[in-house]
Amino acid sequence: MKKLVIAIDGPAASGKSTTSKLVAERLGYLYIDTGAMYRAITWKVIRNKIDLEETDIIGELAERTSVRLEKANDEIKVFLDGEDVSKEIRTQEVTGAVSAVSAIEKVRTVMVREQRKIGECGGVVVDGRDIGTVVFPNADVKIFMIADVEERARRRQKELERAGATVDLSKLVEEIVTRDKKDSGRNISPLRKADDAIALDTTDLTIDEQVDFIVKKVFERLG
Ligand code: CDP
Repeated sequence: MKKLVIAIDGPAASGKSTTSKLVAERLGYLYIDTGAMYRAITWKVIRNKIDLEETDIIGELAERTSVRLEKANDEIKVFLDGEDVSKEIRTQEVTGAVSAVSAIEKVRTVMVREQRKIGECGGVVVDGRDIGTVVFPNADVKIFMIADVEERARRRQKELERAGATVDLSKLVEEIVTRDKKDSGRNISPLRKADDAIALDTTDLTIDEQVDFIVKKVFERLG
């Protein structure tokens, strides 16, 4: 059977990664979490105490950095220069800085090159902000996931609680709105729905329903 490229884009905390991971499992495809790649570079920037305004230095740093995604049991592990940083990249500190780092042209060039390399043979579910518009504009199935901001904040709060962190709901709403604004407003590869992407509002859907919806679209595409 032909191995497709499935692109899943959408704003912050819209359920892309949970859904994409399950869609990939159902299809026997590889899941590529591009947000995790930008988060890993951001963690390196923070750890090296580089000012976010130093865009040239950050761009060069990205060029000299290895980011690898690896499936271990049921989880996707993220390796930064060989070190497992899967936990660190989910902290609020990284979340607060990632939009600035991912708006840097050089960082995007490096990341997009890597993402295309991983997905070039198909059989991938790729989630992010610019997958259907820039990384894989010829993707076979494109989904643009959206959900009410309050619902997204509630989901993110639960996720953080599971990781042992307590964060105020209103703070999460604010963080999500700010990040969406930065991601949609940047000059290079802004977050936007590709014209040929299918919009999927997940506000009132269960995860299973979201997964079923996408898998059905994939089978329709495969004929
Ligand atoms: O999971 P969540 O919605 O919080 O975000 P993520 O997918 O982990 O992405 C984190 C950040 O990386 C986004 O807010 C974007 O600034 C950036 N990103 C991007 O610019 N392009 C992508 N393809 C993926 C993520």
